Amino acid sequence: MTRICSKLPDSGTSIFTTMSKMAADHGAINLSQGFPDFNVSEKLISLVSDAMLSGHNQYAPMAGLPDLRKVISHVTHDRYLYLPDPETEITITAGATEALFATIMALIQAEDEVIVFDPAYDSYDPAIRMAGGIPVHLTLKYPGFHIDWDEVRSAISDKTRLIMINTPHNPTGSILSHEDLKTLETIALQYDLFILSDEVYEHIIFDGHLHESVLRYDGLRTRSIAVSSFGKTFHATGWKVGYLVAPEYLTTEIRKVHQFVTFSVSSAVQHALAGFLKYKNNYVELASLYQQKRDYFLRAIAKSRFEPLPSSGTYFQLLSYTGMDAKNDVEMAELLTREHGIASIPVSVFYKDGTDNSILRFCFAKQEETLTKAAEILCKI
Ligand SMILES: Cc1ncc(COP(=O)(O)O)c(C=O)c1O
Repeated sequence: MTRICSKLPDSGTSIFTTMSKMAADHGAINLSQGFPDFNVSEKLISLVSDAMLSGHNQYAPMAGLPDLRKVISHVTHDRYLYLPDPETEITITAGATEALFATIMALIQAEDEVIVFDPAYDSYDPAIRMAGGIPVHLTLKYPGFHIDWDEVRSAISDKTRLIMINTPHNPTGSILSHEDLKTLETIALQYDLFILSDEVYEHIIFDGHLHESVLRYDGLRTRSIAVSSFGKTFHATGWKVGYLVAPEYLTTEIRKVHQFVTFSVSSAVQHALAGFLKYKNNYVELASLYQQKRDYFLRAIAKSRFEPLPSSGTYFQLLSYTGMDAKNDVEMAELLTREHGIASIPVSVFYKDGTDNSILRFCFAKQEETLTKAAEILCKI
């Protein structure tokens, strides 16, 4: 019999699926996987329904609905002072995941090296490998989770083609600063590299910080791909609609992959988003909504033995249990789910080498009632 040779021999069921299943099996409060437990705006839902009833149920254009791309162009200008050409620089994808995948497939050739920073979102490494590339894992420096740019310079070789960044950062909630982006710009120009910038939490940034998109920087914009997700922005992770902004010469190649991976994404949802995105309040209020949730959660767990690490963006809060228990973080997350009824994600799973700093990630994109119950449990541990 013909044997299958796995392209991803090390990949199994992801920890997100495992923890969510475990949470369901034990009736635990699920703060593990990153999704809101409150609904999408009724207005947006009715726009989708209107679009379906009006007959927008067939294939959308491959690059995305022109109206939606136009609105995205204006939103981009409003946020980052750059007006991308909707025709040639914006592509609608099946979530950020497809945008990341299509970009890596388009840009990476066999043996090309790609620098990624651990802890890293779980789709980066497999996508690079599937493209035949070599992921070069560097580590964000604990406890602030910042990039050591000297280390980046030392890791660059003749084969380095791409650096992947993610700000605001999942799982840590850290953000890149203006100085980080300036340094990245210098490095990218000096070594002639592409930058793939995962900005899915661009609107979820706290304490008055500015989101440092690559699109703000002239030197980066001409060699970068910025990736966004409507799932994060409109509490609709299940719709899987996102987009990427990239210069025309990169967009042309990325669209070649996109057209054979998905071709196009939900036309009704794209029509609805084009209408909804015109109203700025629909996304600018996101930062204060989630900042309130973060602060509510932090106040509620203030008396617990867990030590919160700073979260400047995303809807994740890291809690350290150093000094509370000697278990490794996977065992600790399992114990909390099984015995205490609260599910989280152990941060070691985001490291290629399994680095374990005794930290768990909790998602606070939840209703106050859920956060209150979660905090009551955490305070008793
Ligand atoms: C950092 C990061 N990138 C990409 C994604 C994927 O986004 P999407 O659901 O739009 O594919 C996620 C989702 O959790 C994420 O946290």
